[in-house]
Amino acid sequence: MRSSILLASALGALTTIAAPTWPALNMNAAMPGSLDTVSAYFNMLARKVQESRQMTVAPVCDLSKAQLPEAPVPLPPVSAGLTLKHVAVGRGTQNYTCDTTNATAAPVQVGAVATLFNASCVVSSYPDLANMITKMALRFSLTDEEARLGPSNLAISGMHYFTNTTTPFFNLDRPNLQLGEAPSAKLNGTSAPADAAKGPNGEAAVPWLKLKTRDGATGDLQEIYRVETAGGSAPATCAGMPATFEVQYSAQYFFYSGHKST
Ligand SMILES: *[C@@H]1O[C@H](CO)[C@@H](O)[C@H](O)[C@H]1NC(C)=O
Ligand SMILES: *[C@@H]1O[C@H](CO)[C@@H](O)[C@H](O)[C@H]1NC(C)=O
Ligand SMILES: *[C@@H]1O[C@H](CO)[C@@H](O)[C@H](O)[C@H]1NC(C)=O
Ligand SMILES: *[C@@H]1O[C@H](CO)[C@@H](O)[C@H](O)[C@H]1NC(C)=O
Ligand SMILES: *[C@@H]1O[C@H](CO)[C@@H](O)[C@H](O)[C@H]1NC(C)=O
Repeated sequence: MRSSILLASALGALTTIAAPTWPALNMNAAMPGSLDTVSAYFNMLARKVQESRQMTVAPVCDLSKAQLPEAPVPLPPVSAGLTLKHVAVGRGTQNYTCDTTNATAAPVQVGAVATLFNASCVVSSYPDLANMITKMALRFSLTDEEARLGPSNLAISGMHYFTNTTTPFFNLDRPNLQLGEAPSAKLNGTSAPADAAKGPNGEAAVPWLKLKTRDGATGDLQEIYRVETAGGSAPATCAGMPATFEVQYSAQYFFYSGHKST
């Protein structure tokens, strides 16, 4: 495959696809400093397109080259014998409930809903670009009718939601890509790095997590890491909050299986 075609499919052919198909930049979500992020992102993207034109060998989506990012206080390592099978960028909301009669009560997390986008190729080929995607993703609205992760045309690889308050669920079975389904449970969490991107209203980045899959997982999916989080945290207290609310977030999910990747 020609490198320019690969890059176009991995990142979105910004130079050739007309603007109206991209989600609108949500200026209300623009934080101080976000314009720097936007311009840094586009500059880097332009540089990658330029570099790929000069490459004689096409970049290969070799997941063994992908590096699981490490938090300041690291999560436990991936268990021995597991192989990275997929990397997705999730874009959606973290859901919370609040006791509206108690202004000092803490919001309670009740779940999350996110669309998962296939970032396997970007993360293995362009790690520096990869960690900007979650930052950038929050600056763009995710529209229902056009589920695109602005500014990219990453393919949808699945959905993330909760089946009960302690069971994050990942459905990675798509017509063109059957990677499995993973009911899971949290094993461990650690704070996001101090410079992690905040949400549209300044919400801190949710923690990085290590999850293990529960009985019923398919595709031999075994461990899942949530890293490179952006936004998603609730305020410290329920003061002024409604009974249920959502906070916009984005994260990268690394899926490990017992199978050797081919
Ligand atoms: C989380 O992982 C860290 C590092 O491996 C470990 O020190 C800590 O005890 C773990 N916490 C829990 C709750 O398992
Ligand atoms: C998505 O990711 C997988 C690996 O996780 C890869 O094999 C596949 O080609 C990718 N599909 C698309 C449409 O990008
Ligand atoms: C969580 O958010 C999703 C998506 O907006 C919504 O459909 C769902 O009802 C919410 N759940 C709760 C418990 O608020
Ligand atoms: C309000 O929430 C705080 C913090 O969780 C708790 O200590 C307090 O007992 C609660 N007050 C009432 C009336 O429930
Ligand atoms: C949530 O679902 C899991 C998996 O089915 C189950 O093991 C767990 O007991 C459930 N928890 C609650 C609180 O219902």
